Amino acid sequence: MSCKEQKKISTLFEKEVHEGLTAFPKYLSSKFFYDEIGDALFQEIMALPEYYLTRAEYEIFKIHKSDIVKSFNVNGEGFDLIELGAGDGKKTKILLKELVDQKIDFKYIPVDISQNAVFGLEQNLKEEMPRVNVEGQIGEYSEVLDRLKEMSDRKKVIMFLGSNIGNLLHPKAIHFLKKLFESMHLDDLLFVGFDQKKHPQKVLDAYNDQSGVTAAFNKNVLTRINKELDANFDLNKFMHWETYDPETGTAKSYLISVERQTVDINGLALQVHFEAWESIHTEISQKYDDDTVEWLTKESGLQMITSFSDANNQFKDYVIAKNKL
Ligand code: TRP
Repeated sequence: MSCKEQKKISTLFEKEVHEGLTAFPKYLSSKFFYDEIGDALFQEIMALPEYYLTRAEYEIFKIHKSDIVKSFNVNGEGFDLIELGAGDGKKTKILLKELVDQKIDFKYIPVDISQNAVFGLEQNLKEEMPRVNVEGQIGEYSEVLDRLKEMSDRKKVIMFLGSNIGNLLHPKAIHFLKKLFESMHLDDLLFVGFDQKKHPQKVLDAYNDQSGVTAAFNKNVLTRINKELDANFDLNKFMHWETYDPETGTAKSYLISVERQTVDINGLALQVHFEAWESIHTEISQKYDDDTVEWLTKESGLQMITSFSDANNQFKDYVIAKNKL
């Protein structure tokens, strides 16, 4: 391949940054937040007093672990526990320990696009929980699920925790759930986290903390463009902004240009102009109630079976089946 041709082939990052910053209104995809610095900042977010999500879901696992295992309905047969986007596995470990204690035969399959995340978690579990049979898979969710459907006839429980599904607006969430539906055998189950509608101020605070970690996290995408695409974003000329619409349950994160300015992205041979107070949309964090989750599952051909919530009903994990049990 010639040098010229090679240059034409742009990475996904280059392509999407170009698309998003030449669109009107401007946007950048949140999947680009998570480089090494972004991962570390997200760990900080999860420990913030305002960010209730991780603690609430942790509490759900603590309180309901034995009923959660019961709801998996494994009947003494072995099963595969697949976790999409496993992260550091802090919440999942509670469940893994419960499964080991109950002497249930299972394999834990954490799935992530980041090799680092999967290897790290495998290593950690080998040391901390040697009795758990772990076998990580690296790749895009749908590709891995297709692979697993062919590979094993064992019952599968597919977990998708945190606010992961909430980063998709309803049409995309339905598309994603339909994909899951297709990858499931009849008695497979989904176990999915849906953050609940609550006092609007509480949602706003969770995404706009006092100490500014969330702002740094949001701005990290600009740092990444500076580093990887040779750009000159001045982080002081952008501010983090959060909105929450209690009617739709949609929280949105933005970066806002505080003055009229032009940014050079040399790696894309692109100049991006910003009017004063122009926005870049970066993230959706959807909040739900039971009716909305019921509607989403029905639209995707699935059946909601039961749910587990923390003591204050801030967050819920739903057990969803392909077929009525
Ligand atoms: N997407 C996650 C969530 O909705 C992570 C997140 C937390 C996030 N705070 C953020 C994403 C601020 C963008 C901006 O909870």
